[in-house]
Amino acid sequence: MKIFDEIESEVQSYARSFPRLFNKAQGEFLYDEDGTQYLDFLAGAGTLNYGHNNPIFKEKLLEYIHADGITHGLDLHTKAKGEFLESFNEKILKPRNLDYVVQFTGPTGTNAVEAALKLARNIKGRENIISFTNGFHGVSLGSLATTGNSHHRGAAGVSLNGSSRMPFDGYLGDELDTTFYLDKVLSDSSSGVDLPAAVIVETVQGEGGINAASFEWLQNLEKVCRKHDVLLIVDDIQAGCGRTGTYFSFEEAGIRPDIVTLSKSLGGYGLPFAVVLISPELDKWRPGEHNGTFRGNNFAFVTAKAAIDHYWSDDEFSKSIKAKGAYVSKRLEEIVEKYGEGNFTTRGRGMFQGINCVNGEIADQITTRCFKKGLIIETSGAEDQVVKFLCPLIISEENLKKGIDIVEESIKEVCAKEDIPEDKDYFDDVELAS
Ligand SMILES: Cc1ncc(COP(=O)(O)O)c(C=O)c1O
Repeated sequence: MKIFDEIESEVQSYARSFPRLFNKAQGEFLYDEDGTQYLDFLAGAGTLNYGHNNPIFKEKLLEYIHADGITHGLDLHTKAKGEFLESFNEKILKPRNLDYVVQFTGPTGTNAVEAALKLARNIKGRENIISFTNGFHGVSLGSLATTGNSHHRGAAGVSLNGSSRMPFDGYLGDELDTTFYLDKVLSDSSSGVDLPAAVIVETVQGEGGINAASFEWLQNLEKVCRKHDVLLIVDDIQAGCGRTGTYFSFEEAGIRPDIVTLSKSLGGYGLPFAVVLISPELDKWRPGEHNGTFRGNNFAFVTAKAAIDHYWSDDEFSKSIKAKGAYVSKRLEEIVEKYGEGNFTTRGRGMFQGINCVNGEIADQITTRCFKKGLIIETSGAEDQVVKFLCPLIISEENLKKGIDIVEESIKEVCAKEDIPEDKDYFDDVELAS
């Protein structure tokens, strides 16, 4: 089809890696117009945790459409929205002892991040937001200021203000807990880092290369926030909704963020939907102060409720994600042992894992081969050096194995013909000018 070359903007990205005409999808599979089947380990960049066209949600959605349920509802109180809120409150928040109010924002992740940052700034009366190296929070201007990637930042066209970057966990080597540095600069009135309104953090950095913060680091981060009267925002847009094995990615760390952003798999069916969860005492919004036309995607409310009711009414789903995650860890460990001359490493947790292939060229060769063998899988990281495993959480064990087998085979082929550069720690090479 030439139409994409003719009139679709150059800004296309994923379409370049997977140049086929897709027209059908089911579960963990995508199909192109010739009927060729692809295993989908990209899953809408984390939007399809429950698979494509999940039949349980589809039925609910079709019922709703046939009954002329409201499609667009601004922020009107609709039955679909009320029922979503009830399920979310009863099955997600209450069992976890979490007390949040829910703000419906525009339906993309960056909409939720913008709202969270604006609220934090207004509450604290401070402009600065601490964000982290390799963090990704979206590409609209406010979110982009907290995003690290220079490719995205470079397109802003204006200066990106209002955020100070701090080293994420592990950025300065394994020995150093970077929250001590944050504590130090916030304690020092001459550090040059303005007291922030909030810290925004991903517990596992998705776009930044599947960097998983340790629970201890997250706990220390929370302590630093409390010590300096700074709000803690967890951006759970990619790591949330079960990806790491629990509904929220921060649960196992035992921290309690003041504000949480959710989107991507929240709607369940791949329908656009985003929320900000706010500690009740921080809900200082005045009516309509932060609004938007598309804050009432009722189709997404229907499928989001179905997702919660079906998958999160007990802990069976969580257990199955953890079991599959353990299998992924085992397989990836075995792969990096066998190939890459000791230079490849694994990263991540739960069903949010990756293989660092040292550089983007090698990772690209691997994912290109995977695609030829029928697997859709992407890369992430500053140099796109990490092959990122993001398959639907509902994937069968058989297909999970099949997908990883394809990656292994592709890695084996690439490693047989390429010299794998050493994965040097940055600090090994640093020579300070004297
Ligand atoms: C952690 C995180 N925050 C925010 C966003 C932005 O979401 P969206 O692309 O829907 O604006 C993303 C997207 O990948 C993300 O991974």
